Amino acid sequence: MRILAITNQKGGVGKTTTCVNLAASLVAAKSRVLLIDLDPQGNATTGSGIDKAGLKQTIYHVLIGKKTLKEVIQTSEKGLFDIAPASRDLAGAEVELVNEIGRETRLKLALAELNDSYDYVLLDCPPALNLVTVNALTAANAVMIPMQCEYYALEGLSDLVNTIKKVRTHLNSTLEIEGLLRTMFDNRNMLAQQVSAQLVSHFGDKVYSTVIPRNIRLAEAPSYGLPALVYDRASKGAQAYVELAHEIIRRSKAKANVAI
Ligand SMILES: Nc1ncnc2c1ncn2[C@@H]1O[C@H](COP(=O)(O)OP(=O)(O)O)[C@@H](O)[C@H]1O
Ligand SMILES: [Mg+2]
Repeated sequence: MRILAITNQKGGVGKTTTCVNLAASLVAAKSRVLLIDLDPQGNATTGSGIDKAGLKQTIYHVLIGKKTLKEVIQTSEKGLFDIAPASRDLAGAEVELVNEIGRETRLKLALAELNDSYDYVLLDCPPALNLVTVNALTAANAVMIPMQCEYYALEGLSDLVNTIKKVRTHLNSTLEIEGLLRTMFDNRNMLAQQVSAQLVSHFGDKVYSTVIPRNIRLAEAPSYGLPALVYDRASKGAQAYVELAHEIIRRSKAKANVAI
């Protein structure tokens, strides 16, 4: 079971889009996938075709210790992956957990109960470096950072890298940065090309070779509660996430070989 935290404290960089579409693409590549929505906005939940209004139990109840992860997991009918949904109440978890012992390891413990029933667990983080994100980083094997290639992208990156270093020191010594993902990429934009080249020269093969283009289908699909792979299979956006899934599987296999 490989647990990936999809994180960037900036909002609107493509975290949720990446989670939903990568989940569907990994399933298409015959992997068993669980997506955990950790954002009180619940965009991954609705984007997976689950109605937030009718939800009685969510990841919030898991984090505060009222439910097990298995009790809240549902199946995304069209995406064919499993999902632990989130809704507004998750915003309260921060305050409720603040004086609790082991508040940073709630998610890690909840995941231990799954006993490897999935090949990949994707954690859709909120746009903040808060306690919920720290729970994700503590539970994860690796971090995937989606980013737009724009001028301020690199600035936010150093805060995130510092948080990752702190989590490594105190909570999860084996946490790695698996990769940086260029999202909403527009090849005609000179600045995007420059920032992209800068990223590659600075982070080398930590930058996924797959690039996610700006593609209207990726923006439309969530309003139908569908991954782009189901909404418009042939679209450039859907196909980019299929390619990303293959790249991630290749990377996981390479790691497994090293371990042997
Ligand atoms: N590659 C893309 N092409 C076009 N629109 C995109 C793309 N990726 C994300 N979007 C849109 O951009 C907005 C922000 O994306 P989202 O995945 O919700 O970001 P985050 O989870 O980081 O806040 C959403 O409206 C989404 O539909
Ligand atoms: Mg999001």
